[in-house]
Amino acid sequence: MRQSSLVVVANRLPVDDTVAPDGAFEWRRSPGGLVSALHPILHDKPATWVGWAGGTGDAPTLPDVDGIHLHTVPLSADDVREHYEGFANATLWPLYHDAVEQPVYHRRWWEAYQRVNRRFAEAAAQAAEPDAVVWVQDYHLQLVPGMLRALRPDLRIGFFLHVPFPPPELFMQLPRRAELLLGILGADLVGFQRSQAAHNFAQLANRVLKLPATDRRIAVDDRVVRIGAFPVSIDTAEMEALARRPEVVQRAQRLRRDLGDPQKVILSVDRMDYTKGIEQRLKAYSELIADGHVKVRDTVMVQVAVPSRERVEQYQILRDRVEREVGRINGEFGRVGEPAVHYLNQPFDRVELAALYRAADIMAVTPLRDGMNLVAKEYVAARVDDAGALVLSEFAGAAAEFQQAYLVNPHDLDGLKLTLMHALEASPQDVSSRMRAMRGHLRTHDIQAWATSYLNALVPGASPAA
Ligand code: ADP
Ligand code: G6P
Repeated sequence: MRQSSLVVVANRLPVDDTVAPDGAFEWRRSPGGLVSALHPILHDKPATWVGWAGGTGDAPTLPDVDGIHLHTVPLSADDVREHYEGFANATLWPLYHDAVEQPVYHRRWWEAYQRVNRRFAEAAAQAAEPDAVVWVQDYHLQLVPGMLRALRPDLRIGFFLHVPFPPPELFMQLPRRAELLLGILGADLVGFQRSQAAHNFAQLANRVLKLPATDRRIAVDDRVVRIGAFPVSIDTAEMEALARRPEVVQRAQRLRRDLGDPQKVILSVDRMDYTKGIEQRLKAYSELIADGHVKVRDTVMVQVAVPSRERVEQYQILRDRVEREVGRINGEFGRVGEPAVHYLNQPFDRVELAALYRAADIMAVTPLRDGMNLVAKEYVAARVDDAGALVLSEFAGAAAEFQQAYLVNPHDLDGLKLTLMHALEASPQDVSSRMRAMRGHLRTHDIQAWATSYLNALVPGASPAA
């Protein structure tokens, strides 16, 4: 059993099993913000990533990926149904995202959540050297810090939540709220995307557990748990370099030609998730066409929605509704060979994503609630030409850093239409001065800066990520 001085524990490993066009089995980087954030910082470090490989049954033995040792945790079909699809993605995910869909509560799911968290804690305990740093990620594994501390008191344990942490009024709905808070408080440092989340967490620790708590520290028994905001980011230099590649520039030109050389391309790239505001955005675009504000030939929309959590009922319902709406818009406003919405329900490699970003005049990132939204950051990093307008939801974590974006409340349909028009009609000077400012920010606030600041706070003096 290989042991490391730095262990990342996340529900999902950074690779997905897929079938290549020739029918062979191949692994590729999995989509989603957590993997995009952590993959670049572990690159070429003696680190272990403990996670699930995506299937059921025995855990496959995987080769190292980009220097990262992969330690797989097996999940049975029941675990996947009750832990991943159930408690994680039908209870916690909607609850933590403002309950934009109704959270579902089942006692059996809680049992599975405990069982799977224990398995991850045991795997992390095996993978960690004496006195190692173990960094636990996200809402699937909130009991792991507490369980791991009981197993291995020698470890430095960090926890980072990639999604929002909800206000007390919402969190108080959760049937096992006290156990969950105590689980997280097993960590030495608890990181959130925004300071509001740290504030919510402190208030709950005080209200539910009666612990002395400020927005920076919570006293638990004889320990002090530190909490704070560490906004996650991307590998800015990598995305810039990718966007500058001649093949990406050519591919972007080709994409625009294939779209019929419109004046404006509006792009959205999301996981197919009800938090992303896809339906509201489609409605805004179709009303702009119906009102006569935009013409399909001049202004096309490209909606990439990569399949996600497809066995969870709320996701199936969403996909059906989105596809029906795309069909309706194209049926009503498209022509032969000239659809209004180009809809792509598939994963893409990084080159294709970078080309899409470079091809888009407007990037519409309008989630109803989002912990950060790395797509917004990727778009900004890709616009090495300082062109491109970012229309960004106020309810994405990224809005706190991108005040120069065309900010919008995605629940306000008229506001969304106005903001899209504002971005479509903005002068090139306005667009580029906003983009320059955001790119400047992203160059200093990249993923390395995030990991360094978090790990320095977790282990003062050491900087494993630097
Ligand atoms: P979330 O964390 O909710 O998935 P983010 O915007 O933070 O949302 O992260 C999404 C990540 O997934 C980004 O890094 C993005 O590039 C990647 N991604 C999104 N759509 C696709 C796609 N069709 N193919 C491959 N990767 C994708
Ligand atoms: C969000 C979550 C991650 C998750 C990702 C993809 O980014 O915060 O924890 O990995 O979505 O979702 P999936 O269910 O495919 O892992």
